[in-house]
Amino acid sequence: MKAILTGLGGRGLHWLKAMKERDDVEFVAFVEPFEGSITRAVEQHGVPRELIFPSLDEAIQNSSADFVLDVTPPAVHHEIALRAFDAGLHVIGEKPLSDDFQNAKRVAEAGAAAGLTHMVTQNYRFGAQPRTTRKAIEEGLIGAPGQCDVRFYMNWADNPGSHYVTEPFMVINDMMVHHFDLIRYISGQEPATVHAMTWNQPWGWHAGDACHAIVFQFASGLVATHVAVGCAVGSRTNYNGDWRIEGPNGSIDWNMGQTSYSHLHRTQEKVDKRPLEHLEVKAGEQAMMDEFFAAIAEKREPECGARDNLKSLAMVFGAIQSAKEGRVVALDELS
Ligand SMILES: NC(=O)c1ccc[n+]([C@@H]2O[C@H](COP(=O)([O-])OP(=O)(O)OC[C@H]3O[C@@H](n4cnc5c(N)ncnc54)[C@H](O)[C@@H]3O)[C@@H](O)[C@H]2O)c1
Repeated sequence: MKAILTGLGGRGLHWLKAMKERDDVEFVAFVEPFEGSITRAVEQHGVPRELIFPSLDEAIQNSSADFVLDVTPPAVHHEIALRAFDAGLHVIGEKPLSDDFQNAKRVAEAGAAAGLTHMVTQNYRFGAQPRTTRKAIEEGLIGAPGQCDVRFYMNWADNPGSHYVTEPFMVINDMMVHHFDLIRYISGQEPATVHAMTWNQPWGWHAGDACHAIVFQFASGLVATHVAVGCAVGSRTNYNGDWRIEGPNGSIDWNMGQTSYSHLHRTQEKVDKRPLEHLEVKAGEQAMMDEFFAAIAEKREPECGARDNLKSLAMVFGAIQSAKEGRVVALDELS
């Protein structure tokens, strides 16, 4: 399949490298307006300068592609997707779908109306730990989850000047969309309401709030809590965070990437933090590209299709709205 790669920043170059492992992806054009990114891509990553265009329009006019791999900043995602759909191209785009919920909805509807595949790269859920945990829950290891508590402590995005640092609510908008999507994926349930408080620490380096305590309530009764310090300078969790999932027959714990389960009620045979062996999975980018191509070939919605991804994005924008307005927000208020 022939691809146009939009955005030759850090993540775009990561995708470029990952796709070199495949023989079914050929980059026929690149889009990058910033000379600094162009020079790095040409000089350090061997991208042919003549294939780099300043706009997607020019890249489309000068190439014959099947899809766009969009790795631009979130504020640009909707423009790229709408232009790609106009040209009849499928889109696989980096999370978050957009930095604006109404734009995200518009673009998800446009892809569907055009009959084109539009997938959002929620790579975290393709990892071994989430896949293993979802399978264990589906198989009834702890019964239907009633509570899920996630903790995340990280020196997140500490390079000065990037959009991660200068724009508001970036920890929730850019990073937590992964965790919120994981909560949906692992529980197999959809949240109904969100109540969030956000703040910043005096030593923090983000312009927007980088710390929060958030509670999601699900129609099923499941309650999920998420606590984060995005400007942590002490000990860290890993990027998945530390999790505890409680069910009627036990718990599943995530601790620095390790997964274990426990049954400790006096009526049960005791199992105390027994390791859960992770499934073997492909690297996220390869698994996601496989899924994107399979969905195109089978003419079906991909996992993490844009319309489904709106539900993860609603958790993000619902949490931000709740923090701003100091009230519980029903997620269907956003739809
Ligand atoms: N899934 C993950 O784990 C993960 C990790 C890092 C970044 N990301 C996502 O990847 C995306 C890009 O992040 P990044 O860290 O590479 O950002 P970045 O700022 O380093 O790079 C973005 C690049 O896009 C270019 N750009 C801006 N407008 C453009 C346009 N109209 N057309 C083409 N290029 C344009 C910029 O000049 C820059 O070179 C973001 O959505 C981010 O959330 C995802």
